[in-house]
Amino acid sequence: ANNGLAITPQMGWNTWNKYGCNVDEQLILDAAKAIASSGLKDLGYNYVIIDDCWQKNERESSKTLLADPTKFPRGIKPLVDDIHNLGLKAGIYSSAGTLTCGGHIASLGYEDIDAKTWAKWGIDYLKYDNCYNQGQSGTPKLSYDRYKAMGNALNKTGRPMLYSLCNWGEDGPWNFASTISNSWRISGDVYDNFNRPDPACPCTTYDCVLAGFRCSVMNIINKAVAVSQKARSGGWNDLDMLEVGNGGMNQEEYRVHYTIWAALKSPLILGNDVTNITNTTKEIIMNKEVIAVNQDSSFSPANRIWVKGDQQLFSGNLANNTQVVILLNAGDSAAKMTATWDDIWVYNLPNVDSSRSIEVRDLWKQKSLGNFSNHITLDVPAHGVRLLKFMDSATSS
Ligand code: GAL
Repeated sequence: ANNGLAITPQMGWNTWNKYGCNVDEQLILDAAKAIASSGLKDLGYNYVIIDDCWQKNERESSKTLLADPTKFPRGIKPLVDDIHNLGLKAGIYSSAGTLTCGGHIASLGYEDIDAKTWAKWGIDYLKYDNCYNQGQSGTPKLSYDRYKAMGNALNKTGRPMLYSLCNWGEDGPWNFASTISNSWRISGDVYDNFNRPDPACPCTTYDCVLAGFRCSVMNIINKAVAVSQKARSGGWNDLDMLEVGNGGMNQEEYRVHYTIWAALKSPLILGNDVTNITNTTKEIIMNKEVIAVNQDSSFSPANRIWVKGDQQLFSGNLANNTQVVILLNAGDSAAKMTATWDDIWVYNLPNVDSSRSIEVRDLWKQKSLGNFSNHITLDVPAHGVRLLKFMDSATSS
């Protein structure tokens, strides 16, 4: 997008997963205050994003978008000012269609007018959806042109606004969107479930046309691995917003969700009630060492190395010659998992010293597990992960 934004994956909070269409000024202001005072802001969660259903369903005579006066009696600008005064940034939502997915007025054909309006309001971030697109999808070029129109309009305003595409992976945005946007959704909507298949989310691979919704965490992970390497600084695969804290998964399942989102460099956009965060939720979303994997300056998404039944191994480069390694057990009972140095550095073979002794740190526990050579074997809980940082590399070149 060439706007200098999302050098590392964006972090923040969005209204949709918890509140759906029930948004208003007070709710968003309360959330923003909580983000500023709870320590979330200091950890990097800095975008406060209003999702669908903020709009009034008619434009002004000048065609300008308006906010629903009942939900936002002061309009959007004063709310954005309040968000800015808390040291946070403000995001908004529209669709590259005639209506949003919630059936509200959207921006297709009004790109310049709407981008200017948002710039005037002080908006810093646009989430741009795909509903009611008038058939302008089905080939990458159709989708590209439609999304580029808004990218151009945003750039023309002169106000840097992070541009977050939400076309659910249609037409392969990892191939066409990286030069026009800062992130692109890769699947239908996440829901607060670990692995339940749902007919509403029929795709189990990235290469499937009906993105759907109600996609489980494991469903999204299994799609994301194929395109993980399409991400880069300034343009990220968006695995969708987080469900941590919304109650549908247990602690280990939320740990899997957050771990893979972090390591594959998805934006980390909270979707829970941030005014009332339990200690168990804090344990997941406020772990500095885990967030650091996501925000690492090597900008390098982890790869899935292998799948053996319910077990999966992920490995990725981090800055300073360190490595992130994830043992994922999607099975229903706890398991011992082993990863060898040759697995972990498989892309660097044959320059791997398999006998090399390396210190391994457990990032969820924030403590060293000691030194290991050749391989590591650890207990992994059911529907759980171990997230490890190898403090050195086994490659010799
Ligand atoms: C969906 C989108 C969701 C949410 C919703 C609003 O298309 O994927 O994240 O924005 O629309 O109606």
